Amino acid sequence: MSVLKVAILGFGTVGEGVYTTIQSHAEELTAVLGKKVEVAAVLIKNKQKERNIRSEVLITSDYEEILQLPQLDLVVEAIVGKEPTFTFLQKAIKRGCHIITANKEMFANHGKELLKLADEYKVAVGFEATVGGGIPIIQTLRQLLKINRVQQVQGIVNGTSNFILTEMREKQQSFAAALKLAQENGYAEADPTNDVEGFDAFYKLMILSRIAFGEEPNWNDVEIEGITSITSELIEIAEKLGLRFKHIASASKIGSQVKGSVSPVLVSKSHPFYHVEGVENAINVHSDIVGRITLQGPGAGMFPTASAVIEDLVYVCQSRSSEANNSQTSQAASGQKKKRPNE
Ligand code: NDP
Ligand code: HSE
Repeated sequence: MSVLKVAILGFGTVGEGVYTTIQSHAEELTAVLGKKVEVAAVLIKNKQKERNIRSEVLITSDYEEILQLPQLDLVVEAIVGKEPTFTFLQKAIKRGCHIITANKEMFANHGKELLKLADEYKVAVGFEATVGGGIPIIQTLRQLLKINRVQQVQGIVNGTSNFILTEMREKQQSFAAALKLAQENGYAEADPTNDVEGFDAFYKLMILSRIAFGEEPNWNDVEIEGITSITSELIEIAEKLGLRFKHIASASKIGSQVKGSVSPVLVSKSHPFYHVEGVENAINVHSDIVGRITLQGPGAGMFPTASAVIEDLVYVCQSRSSEANNSQTSQAASGQKKKRPNE
């Protein structure tokens, strides 16, 4: 039986979740792909840390060693930040590998370039895990809502922020204690600035926008506010009024432009996000044919994110033989405006 050789870059919450899931769901992967999926290498930074990785897997902090493997079909990137990840993925594409990333900061900044390069080298790019944790929102937008004209996408897309707000309200935890717990659970980034200041949600909104509208708002026009100004006192007053704070990222098509915002919002009981609690994310898509749909699920953490990556793995492997599928993906996500019949 032929083998699909995978390298995992990063072995933190996401990387380890992907590694474990490839073992635990080996049978299903083989049945769907007709190939055995094998992790050939893992890239890490700190060689002293103990890892639960089989002895035949190459564990290295030298990426060039991975690129020189005799067979390498797919690279999963689960590292933090724009670099060296962008460079790593460019090299993987040029080596002829499909790529999958969970790194929204890098993908919001460099997704267009990666998709263009991937088209050139006829490989596929998976980025489901960049938005909404385990919720299949990217595939829903790019595969299942091709004809609908999307008017608005809005969501709770940062699990850490929603978790902190919930802990503060339900358990009267301090902001700091709730954040610490979010870090211990693997939801928050090691440097949680992007989570609590709204930048993580902003990057996710830009990725969603590109797929939903074929374009994104002008980055400088999007007001970005996190949850650091939401005190326990404010949460208590809101609760007495029957309201809850939710951190919402929203992009709407207004005329010919896409406008975006990222901020805490007070919602009442009738709002679809009122009962979205803890690390859950929810994304509401408003489009002309179907109306409003809401997808909700775990927005961060080891296995929800591994789920998004593993499903992407199948998607990118199957889309290889389908040029149409691949180029359509690239067109929408690379920011080329979708032509509508009356335009
Ligand atoms: P972690 O901090 O848990 O893990 C990061 C991993 O990357 C570590 O294994 C670290 O190595 C490795 N690493 C860091 N820098 C380098 C480098 N220069 N070269 C090689 N390896 C490096 O992060 P997460 O797993 O939580 O997140 C990974 C990515 O996935 C991020 O972009 C994040 O935003 C995204 N993401 C995270 C989710 C989550 O729930 N945590 C959900 C969805 C997306 P070492 O172990 O040696 O320190
Ligand atoms: N730190 C991110 C969050 C991980 O809390 O939403 C999921 O992207």
